[in-house]
Amino acid sequence: MNSVTLINNTNGEKYEFDILDSTKGSGVIDVRNLYAATGLFTYDPGFTSTASCTSEITFIDGEKGELRYRGYDIEELATKKEYLEVCFLLLNKRLPNKAELLDFSEEISKRSFVHEGIKDLFNAFPDYAHPMSMMSASVSAMSAFYFEHLDMSECKDFQVMARRIIAKMPTLAAFSYRRTLGIPFVYPDIERSFTENFLYMLRAYPGQSLKIPTIEVTALDTIFTLHADHEQNASTSIVRGVASTGAHPYVALSAGINALWGRAHGGANESVMLQLEMIGSVDNVENFIARAKDPNDEFRLMGFGHRVYKNFDPRARILKNLLHELKDKININSELLEVAMKIEEIALSDEYFVKRKLYPNIDFYSGLILTAMKIPRSMFTIIFVIGRTVGWITQWMEFQESEDKKIARPRQRYMGETDKQV
Ligand code: SDX
Repeated sequence: MNSVTLINNTNGEKYEFDILDSTKGSGVIDVRNLYAATGLFTYDPGFTSTASCTSEITFIDGEKGELRYRGYDIEELATKKEYLEVCFLLLNKRLPNKAELLDFSEEISKRSFVHEGIKDLFNAFPDYAHPMSMMSASVSAMSAFYFEHLDMSECKDFQVMARRIIAKMPTLAAFSYRRTLGIPFVYPDIERSFTENFLYMLRAYPGQSLKIPTIEVTALDTIFTLHADHEQNASTSIVRGVASTGAHPYVALSAGINALWGRAHGGANESVMLQLEMIGSVDNVENFIARAKDPNDEFRLMGFGHRVYKNFDPRARILKNLLHELKDKININSELLEVAMKIEEIALSDEYFVKRKLYPNIDFYSGLILTAMKIPRSMFTIIFVIGRTVGWITQWMEFQESEDKKIARPRQRYMGETDKQV
């Protein structure tokens, strides 16, 4: 076993820590006994150099811009597989055969209805409520309606629990949106595919057998796949943290939804569109780039930069290609697309961004496609939620089945008052 030696120069003591290999990417220094051996903590705010768990689900190589779900390259999955196939892959560690996919899709369709009590919950919200607040509340409420359905000690219950929430997320999302308009909810149509059904529930008049353009279904299905999982990002770490206390998985997912909402994370897609509209034209781009570089200006280029990717986010590359494919087929706002391309062109050659390895991330282009599909900006992060639900619940399940199921309880560097007397 390889190892590293730590020498404490204050007392000359030496400590040996094992290096644990990974099947791909960086190995890890096993510091689980560091405090017991040295009386010292590691210090890593934001966890830039910390592996919080062992996982087999998703692999990212930030330097290369590589992303794999269960070993499959994201570009292959996004262009050759539908979202429900990717859900099956993440949940079952393998792709489904035709019969399995048919059964899985049928089960998801039939589980897409929500308890009427949850539907009534939406009426408690004001019209002006942001759909994300209704989403996190309704997912949390799912734990009340399905508490008895899950024995947390029984892994066999997990698959049904996972399929239930994957199936209901689009329905809760469509209800959240329609509540903001004060219009009647449209129930799922089990004859429609997962993604088509979401667009149907979002757009149709009650009773209308609305035709949904296939090109839009395919584009949104790809977007769901691109958002399906992303190893230990902020919201997934929160889901795992709540899982570690033994709480119900649906409240863990609700915590993940709330964490995702921040503009530094999944909320960025909504902010990118706001920003592109604020910049308005390519003539203004230079000015905003200057602001983004100014350390005294809190303005940042939304949709740019990433904790892990120090190269093009492969998902952004796929979305950029998708945008160009769709450009002449759905009404992409060409002026805002030009602004986005100009930002990318300048930023990728500007020393400030090059030195910091700041590239477009998944949120930079997604909003342009969603806007062209007339999905309102307030629903952009919910689209991210629908796609990411399978990743969150797969990570939750992996935590439950892992050997070191310890409660997430980091320590701190204390710099407060000492020994005060009253
Ligand atoms: C997602 O983690 C995941 O996997 C997340 C995600 C997923 O699928 O789950 O990929 C989804 O959240 C994508 C990211 C969406 N967020 C945004 O687009 C918001 C804008 N980006 C930034 O806020 C930022 O880049 C983060 C939050 C994404 C990453 O922040 P880090 O890794 O903590 O980096 P940092 O803030 O320390 O920045 C390093 C330097 C700083 O400059 P210096 O202090 O060295 O001078 O880069 C600068 C930052 O000021 N910088 C930016 C910038 N992002 C970083 N400067 C201008 N514009 C930006 N967008």
